[in-house]
Amino acid sequence: MTHSLVEHVEDLLGGPRPLPIAIAGDPVLRRRSAPYDGNLPSGLLNELIIAMRLTMLSAPGVGLAAPQIGLGLQLAVIEDTAAISSELAAARRRVPVPFRVLINPSDEPVGTEVAAFYEGCLSVPGYQAVAERAEAVRLRGWDADGEPFDEVVVGWPARIVAHETDHLAGRLYLDSALSRSLSSNENYLARWGGATPKAARVALGF
Ligand code: NI
Repeated sequence: MTHSLVEHVEDLLGGPRPLPIAIAGDPVLRRRSAPYDGNLPSGLLNELIIAMRLTMLSAPGVGLAAPQIGLGLQLAVIEDTAAISSELAAARRRVPVPFRVLINPSDEPVGTEVAAFYEGCLSVPGYQAVAERAEAVRLRGWDADGEPFDEVVVGWPARIVAHETDHLAGRLYLDSALSRSLSSNENYLARWGGATPKAARVALGF
């Protein structure tokens, strides 16, 4: 590489806020990200995390992985404090996720239960599709202070985590989504925003 990681991050941070988001078709979204090995000065890492959080919140989204800002590094931020109805929250097991940083995260399914819900991605704007994901995952990684974590994440937060670890492996949610469920944001909001995708399953045939 002619461009060191530090230079790349400095270039990114010297640019506009929110940071520009890479859109599907950009190869950076299709490469496996390099592990983070502590090779950024802590001030620069913190500034990067702050910029990623701002970019995620202003999109708005509930997660952002470094490849989505053109950086092939195993780093993601998540935060989900959206106000939703109690019916939706219960059906989707969508509990609030406080802001957190995932460094070199890995996840693996816990148990065999699978949940199928609509989700979207800031790198695939305008659309949502149903993806089947493990209802619970074991999440391991490190936080921004270098503290390791190893925990079981359940429900909607497990979906967010798996979506972000997919990004770090060069995958997009569409790779494993049920393609017949694909819906524009407008159609999703008008028709399929119910607690479960059951009605969409019948009407769209997936
Ligand atoms: Ni995404």
